[in-house]
This record gives sequence, C-alpha cells and structure tokens, in this order.
Amino acid sequence: MAVETVGHSARGHFSLDSPNQPTGVGGRQPNYRKNRPDGGRKPGTRELFGRLALVTFPVIGVVGGGQLARMMAPAATALGFELRVLVEGEDVSAFSAVSTSPVGDYKDLQTLLEFADGLDVMTFDHEHVPTSHLRALQDAGVNVQPGPDALVNAQDKLVMRAAIDRLELPNPVWAAVADVAALVTFGDETGWPVVLKMPRGGYDGKGVRIIESAEDAAGAAEWFESMSPLLAEAKVDFSRELSALVARTPDGEARAWPVAHTIQVDGVCDEVIAPALDIPLEVAAAAEDAALRIASELGVTGVMAVELFETPGTGAGFLINELAMRPHNTGHWTQDGSVTCQFEQHLRAVLNLPLGATDVLGPVVVMKNFLGGDNQDLFSAYPAALASEPAAKVHCYGKSVRPGRKIGHVNLVGATAADVDALRQRAARVASIIRDGRVPAEESPRISEEKA
Ligand SMILES: Nc1ncnc2c1ncn2[C@@H]1O[C@H](COP(=O)(O)OP(=O)(O)OP(=O)(O)O)[C@@H](O)[C@H]1O
Ligand SMILES: [Mg+2]
Repeated sequence: MAVETVGHSARGHFSLDSPNQPTGVGGRQPNYRKNRPDGGRKPGTRELFGRLALVTFPVIGVVGGGQLARMMAPAATALGFELRVLVEGEDVSAFSAVSTSPVGDYKDLQTLLEFADGLDVMTFDHEHVPTSHLRALQDAGVNVQPGPDALVNAQDKLVMRAAIDRLELPNPVWAAVADVAALVTFGDETGWPVVLKMPRGGYDGKGVRIIESAEDAAGAAEWFESMSPLLAEAKVDFSRELSALVARTPDGEARAWPVAHTIQVDGVCDEVIAPALDIPLEVAAAAEDAALRIASELGVTGVMAVELFETPGTGAGFLINELAMRPHNTGHWTQDGSVTCQFEQHLRAVLNLPLGATDVLGPVVVMKNFLGGDNQDLFSAYPAALASEPAAKVHCYGKSVRPGRKIGHVNLVGATAADVDALRQRAARVASIIRDGRVPAEESPRISEEKA
C-alpha cells in the first residue's frame, strides 16, 4: 500500500475514506460527486449522524505539501470544506497544517489513485505530476482540476510557447534546440545572450541559464544530456516583470485581479507591488485580457498566474514569460490585499462555485518574501518584528530554515500609492528582522534593488 490510509489527526485514527461524507447536494452543483469511486453514496450516513447528514461539504485533495497547499487550509476551514493533502514527507510545509495529510509519492500512479478515493476534486500544489498519470486518473473517474490538457502548458515550457504562438499572443523569439550546435545557430540568428531553459521540472530560476555567447554555449552540453530538446529564448530587455493573475471555473466563469509588478532576485520572486503602479491602462487591460483568453482557450481551471515582461513601446507592451496553474507567489498579496484571496478563489474555482470579488483593499499592497538566512529560530524574532509594524501580516510556512529557501512572506497594505517606497521599506524591515533574527542597524535597511 503506497498511501498511509490513516491521518495523524488529534481526533484519532480514521480512514481516508471517512464515513461522514455526504451524498449529493442540489443547486448550482458540479457533477463531481458521481465521479467518486463509490458513486457518491456513503453508507448509513443518516443513521450514523442524524442531523449531521445535512452537512454536505466537499472534500478537496491537494497533491503536494508545500506552502501553497498549506495556505489553502484557512480558506477551506472558513468555507467548511475538508482539505486533504498528499505530502512528500512529514517535514513539508502543509503537513502540520492539514490533519489528513498522508505521505506518498506523487510520481506513483497507484498512490495517486488511492489518494483520490473519496475526493470530490483533486488539485495541485505544484506542476510536477506526470501528465500520463493525470490522464489515467481522469480515465478512472477522478475529477482533476486543472485537467492534463490545460496543465501540460504549465508543465512544459515548449508546449506553452507553441500554445501562445497558436493564440497569437506575444512571445519572445524562441526555438526548441536539440543540441549545442542548434543553440549556437539560434544565438547567431537572434543575437546573444540567449536564455536557455529546461522545458520541464524547473522552479525558482533553477533550470534557467543565460548563455552569453557562442563560446559559452559548449558549457550547456550537460543540460542537453539530461534533457533534449531545450527551450532557447531571446533575452528580453524588459522594464519590469508583471503578473496577470486570474481564476476560472470548469463552467467558464473567470475573474482577474489587477496586474501586479513582480521583482525577481537571482530568478526567485522577492517582492510584489499590486496593482503595478503607473502601468499604462491599455497595457494592463491587454495583459488581463491575454490571461483570461489563455485560461479560456486552454481550458484552465483554478488560479493561473501569467508571468509577463513589460516591454514599453513594443507591440502590446509586454511579452509572455510563463504560465503557472495554481496559486502563485506573485499572488500572495491577495491574502491581505484583496476581497478574495487566491487560495480561496482556487478552491471555489476547482469546485465550480461562483468566484469571489477581486477588488483591492487599498491603493497599493506590497508583498515581501523572506528566504532562509542565518537565523534558525524564526519565532525568536517575532516580538521585534510584530512590534515594529503592527499593520504587517506575517505568513510563515513552517519549513526548516535553509539558505535561499522560501520560508515566509510579509504583506502590507498602503494608505496611498504615493508612499510606496516607504511601504516597501517597512515590509522589507519586518521580513529582515525575521530572517536575520535581529533588528537592523539604526538607519532603515536598504530594500533589495530591482534587477533589470
Ligand atoms: N527570455 C528571458 N529574457 C530575460 N529574462 C528572462 C527570460 N526568461 C526568464 N528570465 C528571467 O529569469 C526568471 C526565471 O525564469 P522562468 O520564470 O522562466 O523560470 P522558473 O524557474 O520557471 O520560474 P518560477 O520561479 O516562476 O517557476 C524570470 O523571472 C526572469 O527574471
Ligand atoms: Mg517564472
């Protein structure tokens, strides 16, 4: 048996296919219950629980136990949904936050099938479940959201680039390159440097490298040995990076949050400013439209982030970088800065429920990540951090501290967009106190400089 069939709840051991699940509910209702392996019928519920049989809430299963799964838990709790998470081990972020979190390997189909038992919908914390497993789950009647035909565009950057071309949306110049010689040909034709990417499996800039020149290309030989073809892209001369965040239901209802400005440091999201300030209205509208169109044309369900390069004065004013089909680091600001946060919206969307309003709760919202540093005892810094900024909302992922690892973030809603720099400094100060375990020296800490 690949999946442990009991949870670790303080309420004691219980089967993953717990008996207090309901039969169907009426109204605007997705037909996911009939997809349950038991056809939606639960034996003896009414007899066992009497009036509790009227409690008919869905069960959502999330594959992957990172911080994204963890941050779905408050939304599930508020709405009364049951959340289960298939975790990679007991040390991952979601394990301590979700009472039913069996340990299992998401690359093993049998494990996924066992985890699917009793779920109304299966969704994801990451994009690494093999596409063939997703299709097999669907064939077995599991309600997988987003489905494999959509998700493959977030799993494979070559598939994504071809889809963006098909939709006639703005791509950087790109090509699939099978070896060093093809990379050199691409670079000579489009100009150096070239950005070389692993089509599958990358995250946080791992799987992305800049090839400066034809001479430098030979250094990429080992990458071609591990995967071929790779994706070669022209290095885009962008003014800033943006994120267009949307959500869509299986029935096709869709909503967008305002486009946000995202700041990457060493390929890792460091800071987000939402809405993106001073963005031309037509660029923001076109970016939002592009994201909604991608969601609709590719059949995306749940939350999707479209990462963009802002390129003033050229074409639409932006190029598309990549797609993420799940809540995304560039959408964490919505937790404290929007009427509906991305985690709640994701759950609503995959359950085919009406979506929540995406209005922003202030003129500007800043999200600042903190990565692992020297301080192992994060809580020791809480008194100083929380006292320094009572308006800050701290989100900590319960992960052990390793240098460079994403371990939490701080959200801060501003009163006016004019003082965004001060707001960024205040958020960065809270983050640095927690990361370093001490209050910075007298003067305000420098906020990280934006690359690009
Ligand atoms: N064609 C390009 N031109 C210029 N910079 C690029 C290009 N592609 C990627 N980058 C830079 O590298 C970063 C990481 O690239 P990308 O988003 O493709 O990788 P990733 O590892 O999948 O990222 P994520 O952390 O979002 O999963 C981008 O945010 C951007 O800063
Ligand atoms: Mg990216």
